[in-house]
Amino acid sequence: MHPVSHQEEHQGTRRDFIYYATAGAGAVVTGAAVWPLVNQMNPSADVQAQASKRVDVSSVAAGTQLTVLWQGKPVFIRARTQEEIDAARAVELNALPDQNAENANLAADADASDENRALSEDGVWLVQMGVCTHLGCVPLGESGDFGGWYCPCHGSHYDTAGRIRKGPAPRNLDIPVAAFIDETTIQLG
Ligand code: FES
Repeated sequence: MHPVSHQEEHQGTRRDFIYYATAGAGAVVTGAAVWPLVNQMNPSADVQAQASKRVDVSSVAAGTQLTVLWQGKPVFIRARTQEEIDAARAVELNALPDQNAENANLAADADASDENRALSEDGVWLVQMGVCTHLGCVPLGESGDFGGWYCPCHGSHYDTAGRIRKGPAPRNLDIPVAAFIDETTIQLG
C-alpha cells in the first residue's frame, strides 16, 4: 500500500475515534440534564412522602405565626386576629395590584378576596409561602404600611392577607397546597 494513503487511513480512524468520544460525552451531559426533569414528572414514593409535611398548629395563638421549612422554603402559618381579618376583608378588590388569589388550592382564576386567601372559613388561618414574589427574600411579619408583611430587600408591602399592596413585588404571596387534616394539624402538599 502507498505510504500516504496508509497515513490518511490512520488519521481517518483517529478522527472517527475523537468524533465518537465527543458525541458520547455530549450524550452523557444531555442525559444528566434531562434526568431531574423526568424524575420530577414521575416522583417515586419516597419523593412523594417528602413532598408533604404535617404541622401541629395547636400552640399557635391568635396574632402569632409559625414558620416552617417545607421543600427548602419557609412557609408562614399565621393565626390571624379578628382585627387582621377585618382589615383584609375591608379592602376592595380593585385596590389590589394582583387580583388573583394565587392559591394553589383554588381554581387558577380565583380572585384575591380574603376568603380565597384564608385556609379556614372563619378566616383565622392564613398559610402562605414566606418568599417575596419579587426576588425571593423572606418578608418580615407584622410590618409594613398595611400591617402584614414587609420585604426589606426592595420595599414590598403585603397586607394581612399576604396580598401585595405597594412596592416592586408582582404577586401576592403564594399559597401552597394545604389543608387541615384534623383540628390542630395542617398538611402542606
Ligand atoms: S425581594 Fe422582596 S422586594 Fe425585592
